[in-house]
Amino acid sequence: MKEIYKNLYQFTLYIPNMDFTIHQYLYKSNPSILFAAGTVQQININMAEIKNILGERKLKYIFVSHMESDEAGGVFLLKNEFPDVNIICGQLSARELFGFGYDGKILPMNNDEYLNDGELKLKFINYPSEVHLQNGLICFEENSGILYTSDLMLKFGNGEGKIINSNWHDEIKNVCDNRIPVERAKILSESLSKINPKFIAVGHGFCVKL
Ligand SMILES: [Fe+2]
Ligand SMILES: [Fe+2]
Repeated sequence: MKEIYKNLYQFTLYIPNMDFTIHQYLYKSNPSILFAAGTVQQININMAEIKNILGERKLKYIFVSHMESDEAGGVFLLKNEFPDVNIICGQLSARELFGFGYDGKILPMNNDEYLNDGELKLKFINYPSEVHLQNGLICFEENSGILYTSDLMLKFGNGEGKIINSNWHDEIKNVCDNRIPVERAKILSESLSKINPKFIAVGHGFCVKL
């Protein structure tokens, strides 16, 4: 675990044979939010440290970009620990969570929608996550400038605790030119151009300081 940005704690599982990292992040804001529920393996390892960092605080939100094991696997264990926690996710994931038998609080969000609560000013942006290119979300916290990008800007390599420098224009161009189907890339590029992040908390690979 590392405080990789102000009040943002990165938890990493490194998979050597893939040279790949899976990150989840606890943002110790008021209220607090976890970006990605992590895999079951991850949350079993990280739960004690998450509670330790939170101290007296309760975890109020978990952001789930889309339904895959690294984004959503830990939701049941987290709900056992924090029964009032709210899962923030897209409409599709909300239906899938229900289908998997999740009976906790779910807050389905849409593209360009905001959730304001205390120190958090969260904006959600739609992106075609890799599960059949259906709708996933990324999450921008406007007050801190933290953008959690899930799989959108993933990189291979051991990025645990590491930060690279870049600029937002290049990051948008790189992802929209290479990773998104052409017909969707223009829409995503326009959405991303409307925000001005300071720090990209990636789901996999190397975080980016802008
Ligand atoms: Fe994914
Ligand atoms: Fe992922």
